[in-house]
Amino acid sequence: MPIQDAISPAPNTSLPNRYGALCTEVYDLDKPPGALHDVGYYIDRLAGLDGPILEAACGTGRLLIPLMEAGLEVEGFDASDDMLQVCRRHCEARGLTPSLRRARFQDFAYDQAFAAVVVPVGTFTLIDDFAEALAVLRRFFDHLRPGGRLMIDLMPLAYLANETPDIRTWTADNGDLLRIEGRPVEIDFGRQRRVTHDRYERWRNGRLVESELEIMAFRLWGQKEFELALSAVGFDQVSVRGDYQAGPPRRSSRILNYEARRPAGEQRGAA
Ligand SMILES: C[S@@+](CC[C@H](N)C(=O)[O-])C[C@H]1O[C@@H](n2cnc3c(N)ncnc32)[C@H](O)[C@@H]1O
Repeated sequence: MPIQDAISPAPNTSLPNRYGALCTEVYDLDKPPGALHDVGYYIDRLAGLDGPILEAACGTGRLLIPLMEAGLEVEGFDASDDMLQVCRRHCEARGLTPSLRRARFQDFAYDQAFAAVVVPVGTFTLIDDFAEALAVLRRFFDHLRPGGRLMIDLMPLAYLANETPDIRTWTADNGDLLRIEGRPVEIDFGRQRRVTHDRYERWRNGRLVESELEIMAFRLWGQKEFELALSAVGFDQVSVRGDYQAGPPRRSSRILNYEARRPAGEQRGAA
């Protein structure tokens, strides 16, 4: 095989972490605006801040919308047109007009600096490469005001080895049965990376009428490793709790909640 063919992806190769139309429909059905236990936590933690908040990878507005409804000034970006389209629709229906942009963690850029940047529900693990993730942390740092807060939630490292298939169904408003069947296809302990194939399906009257394959690539972090990464980029006041509760995480914690501060008047770290 010529080297070029070996290194460049074939034209129809699916990119990972696409969040296409069917995946978006299921996400919104499963987690409509205001769903999940993190909403009150974020409102409490962000309420006293003076200045705009950026939700990186805001998706359908599940969190962004209740934050705005609580009176916070929030804007967001996301890589998926499908997720953003649903977010815009939800916002319009509620008379909300946030600034929403299509951008990636790897290339977002704003002229203004934020009082806080938030990345809930483990989305940061979708940056599946260590060096790239550090560069994104630097980008967050650069988009925070001195004294600004970064809040990132991560699944514990144990998720790397989880081999349990994810099989769930939902019923759409029109009666369609929506189904996901997700399976890990690659677990790389060295790179702390896992890849799953999530097959989304739409069944109508017992017939499969649509399917979509989402290739999801994650990089999981050790608890201390992520604290070190935040410090290496220049953040201070790095803290971590578990399941949105005060105090350090427990062995049973399902989600780790990191918080860190861009020091007032300090330069970025060397990493
Ligand atoms: C689990 S959803 C979370 C959405 C929202 N933050 C929430 O809490 O419901 C993950 C989101 O990350 C977005 N995403 C994935 N990779 C991304 C990237 N490289 N840059 C920006 N957004 C990305 C997806 O499009 C999707 O909307």
